Amino acid sequence: MRASRYIIFMYVAMVGAPFFMFIYAIAYFYNQSYLLFPLQVIMAILLSVYGILGINEVYISRSNKHHDKDFEVINGKEISTLQSSDKETTIHITRFDTQKSSFVKDTYSISSNRFTTVLDALLDIKSKSANTLAIRYSCRMGICGSCGMVINGKPSLACETNLSSVAKNGEVNVEPMRAHHITKDLVTDLDDFFAKHKSIKPGLFRKNEKEKFAAKEPYAQSTKEIEKYLPYSYCIMCGLCLDACPVVNTNEKFIGPQALSQEYRYHADSRDQLGKKRIELTDTLEGVWGCEFIGACSKACPKGVDPATSIQLLKIDTVKNEVGME
Ligand code: SF4
Ligand code: FES
Repeated sequence: MRASRYIIFMYVAMVGAPFFMFIYAIAYFYNQSYLLFPLQVIMAILLSVYGILGINEVYISRSNKHHDKDFEVINGKEISTLQSSDKETTIHITRFDTQKSSFVKDTYSISSNRFTTVLDALLDIKSKSANTLAIRYSCRMGICGSCGMVINGKPSLACETNLSSVAKNGEVNVEPMRAHHITKDLVTDLDDFFAKHKSIKPGLFRKNEKEKFAAKEPYAQSTKEIEKYLPYSYCIMCGLCLDACPVVNTNEKFIGPQALSQEYRYHADSRDQLGKKRIELTDTLEGVWGCEFIGACSKACPKGVDPATSIQLLKIDTVKNEVGME
């Protein structure tokens, strides 16, 4: 039965029940007991119909929304599925011209649908209109961390950014990250970023070095021990947090939120025995004390790593180490 018919029955029941209640009250008042029982039955039926159809109506309207797919939530936004499958989106790309050492802004128009990501759009542009456009990507699913760029002013992964949810008046701006040296167009050179990561000795170190080749038993950890470092272990090394960090953008020597959060990740791991030596690696102005706790890094991180918090925790342990409490 269609939803509109349910609504008609519901209104009949809504109006009918009070009407028969009124008749019931009169019959009761004039002591017409032979009328009371049938009236009670009619009211009960009408109220039941009203109740059942009301529940049904709620169910129908909900299932229309979810099953008929008038809307779908993509990147936290409701996107209409009723829109025509393709629509035009204008993409402004800021490209770095290596020969002139300057930026050039190019504009392209592409046909996109509700599933198109910014990476899809860029690849479409590359294949149809600008085959010299340099883009770096690999997994296309937010795992490898290689497609980082600035989309509408926010450091983001191109493969994880839905085009229609970021488009403003049908337009999207794409730029390379500026915290890293730019190789070409949207591709940045992450050598310095990886060198900083390497400087914090990413890995688990034991006092007995031979142990890692001949461990007698697995290093069992309690849930509490795992919880201490797990949230910081999701880093995919995309470099977006560095691009968002104002300190990195003004002081090239600052080691940055990624390396510091990874230092905390290994420091907090009960299997690591580097202890003091690890903490001392970043007890410098370019290390943990360079952080001004602005928090932009945590907002930019696509994996929810929260480098800002890890750096503050590292600061606490650095102070403890300095006063001999570690
Ligand atoms: S902490 Fe987050 S934003 Fe920074 S490199 Fe790792 S995954 Fe990327
Ligand atoms: S292509 Fe791998 S994270 Fe985007």
